[in-house]
Amino acid sequence: MPNSAIARACANIAFIKYWGKQPASDNRAAVPSLSLTLAGLSTETEVEFDSNLSADQLVLGRTALEGRPLERVKALLDRVRAQSPNPAFARVQSRNDFPTGAGLASSASGFCALALAASSAAGIASDAASVSALARKSSASAARSAFGGFSVLRAGADAAEPLLDENAWPLALLVTLTAKGPKAVGSTEGMLHTERTSPYYATWVTHAPKLFEQGYKAVLERDLERLGAAMEQSTLMMHASMLAAAPHLLYMNPVSVRVIETVTALRKQGTHAYFTLDAGPHVKVLTTPELAASVRAALLDVEGVQSVIETKAGPGATLVR
Ligand code: PMV
Repeated sequence: MPNSAIARACANIAFIKYWGKQPASDNRAAVPSLSLTLAGLSTETEVEFDSNLSADQLVLGRTALEGRPLERVKALLDRVRAQSPNPAFARVQSRNDFPTGAGLASSASGFCALALAASSAAGIASDAASVSALARKSSASAARSAFGGFSVLRAGADAAEPLLDENAWPLALLVTLTAKGPKAVGSTEGMLHTERTSPYYATWVTHAPKLFEQGYKAVLERDLERLGAAMEQSTLMMHASMLAAAPHLLYMNPVSVRVIETVTALRKQGTHAYFTLDAGPHVKVLTTPELAASVRAALLDVEGVQSVIETKAGPGATLVR
């Protein structure tokens, strides 16, 4: 039985956002979300269980990590070991194919690749649904990266589900970097703070399923305009709930706002382009492959934009070895 495996998973970007956990639910989402798994922006992770080790080890790129990152990896490995006939500590070696330290680091690609590699190395179930469920316990957004193209994670669900594969609807996603350096407040911390202190959180949880239905239907009908409208409202409602927290959480910066204004102006001129932001200042812009070059040029013209990475729909998590 092999005790090592290598897996690759891509990041995903939510068009309909997940923000908030069901109470005491082992990290189940309070609201349904819908995302596109992205080509590129991937993580490759090797897991080797070795009975000679006396503790788990984690290396990202060339750097050995301890503290919170190692604790989160250990928690996932413990869940795998609980199902494994021969539990042992593991050596985990992970590599991102995108610049780290740019604030793009993705828990989604990382935990999904780790879940697939660890399950395969331990010889436990490693089908997409099992991997998605395991990744979800570490980072709910990571559950969606198990599948390629569009996928959804319903409120309270154990695992994500595939919606449309990566070849079903060609689109371009322009990742617009508006700042250097990692984000200030991580998503888990920001989410819990919003749940506890924002009077708008309850409204967000009530309204989010309606935006999900709108987005879900728009994807099935390949209706970019309707998807775009639902996606912009979803991200702005999520950010409004964070802004109303005490103390407030402001993830956007002045450049993010200028990018939003530019996208809105492009649309007034008839260009199909729509924005979304996660718990960070970078703005991701959805458009068609035909319009991607001209939209990218307009984004690069915005004062303060560092760079624009063009991506498209990518595959689900796969085993490399
Ligand atoms: O899975 P987490 O804990 O990293 O949370 C991700 C939350 C957002 O990126 C802001 C939204 C989403 O649905 O991906």
